[in-house]
Amino acid sequence: MAFEMWKEIIEYGRWAPSPHNIQAWKFRLVSESQAILLFDPDRLLPGTDPTGRFTAAGFGILLEMMSIAAAAHGLEVKVDYLGVSLDSKQPTHTPYANLTLVKRTQPEPFDRQLILDRRTSRLPYDDKPVSPEVLAELSEIAAAYGNELEFSVEPKQVEWVVKLNADTMFYDMADPVARNEVGGWIRFSKAEARRKADGLAAYAMLFSGALMWLFVRVNFLFRLPGIYQLVRLFYIRSMKGTRTVAWLSGPYEKPADWDKAGRMLARLWLCMTKHGVYLHPFGSVITNVTAHADMEKHFANPSRKHPLWLLVRLGHSELPPKAQRLTVEQLLVP
Ligand SMILES: Cc1cc2nc3c(=O)[nH]c(=O)nc-3n(C[C@H](O)[C@H](O)[C@H](O)COP(=O)(O)O)c2cc1C
Repeated sequence: MAFEMWKEIIEYGRWAPSPHNIQAWKFRLVSESQAILLFDPDRLLPGTDPTGRFTAAGFGILLEMMSIAAAAHGLEVKVDYLGVSLDSKQPTHTPYANLTLVKRTQPEPFDRQLILDRRTSRLPYDDKPVSPEVLAELSEIAAAYGNELEFSVEPKQVEWVVKLNADTMFYDMADPVARNEVGGWIRFSKAEARRKADGLAAYAMLFSGALMWLFVRVNFLFRLPGIYQLVRLFYIRSMKGTRTVAWLSGPYEKPADWDKAGRMLARLWLCMTKHGVYLHPFGSVITNVTAHADMEKHFANPSRKHPLWLLVRLGHSELPPKAQRLTVEQLLVP
């Protein structure tokens, strides 16, 4: 069997974003219409995402993007989760869901080319807020998934969010568990990024590889007065021109919620790509306990029904560098 259809769909799916670009997914192709989605226990984040919520949302993004890719053939990807949790202690690649290609029931509004064009932009933005029309379209998508998208274009709020994200980077790097885990996903040189085809490449983070190496390996230096302030300022200035920030709240308790949140994020991100808007998720603000508590307090809203589970900045920038991905062949397991 050639499995051409699956390979074509995975060719799109492999461009799905994941936290730290971990790409924890693998595929076992069973027949022309059936496949098994597995997770790679060595690519999980037990230290910073112990419940696997963020990683599971990443799987939701992947599956939504694969289904959008299948639409070009009048198909969609039906998913039957196996009720297995994303456990880093599993000895080997572990089946996570059964996938079936079935005839599509609903038309797909997104062009699958958007999956290939989508990128995270950590670049400076162009000082223009995201238009109210685009924000309204994004809010509608969120509402369709039972989530609420709140946003602000107020300079004071934008500044607060950008500073909170900068502080989070220092909180994470001062904590040995987060530092070792995140540090293990940093690719300090372009050659390393290309060879491993995953992780957070210094070039995509817009930092010098040497500076990132020092930051991870000799972190106490960056806690010294003077150096700390300088690096923090440098990082905050890399987000110059940001005029819009947004935060999502929605059900985020159980695996079905995480899948749904991921599927929604896939659609929000593709909608932004369609309108030439880039996104920079501040996921670590959620996974870091101190930063998350600051955020909950700052954005407290008694009428909000569900917990806050993502904070982002969004706007217009130059074309950001493209992050690496594993090839389809590397994602297939016998
Ligand atoms: C749930 C989630 C959380 C993320 N959190 C962050 C974050 O805190 N900071 C950041 O710079 N990028 C974050 N990202 C972006 C990923 O690092 C990015 O998608 C990945 O490196 C691949 O790059 P690409 O989106 O340009 O293809 C997040 C992505 C996802 C899906």
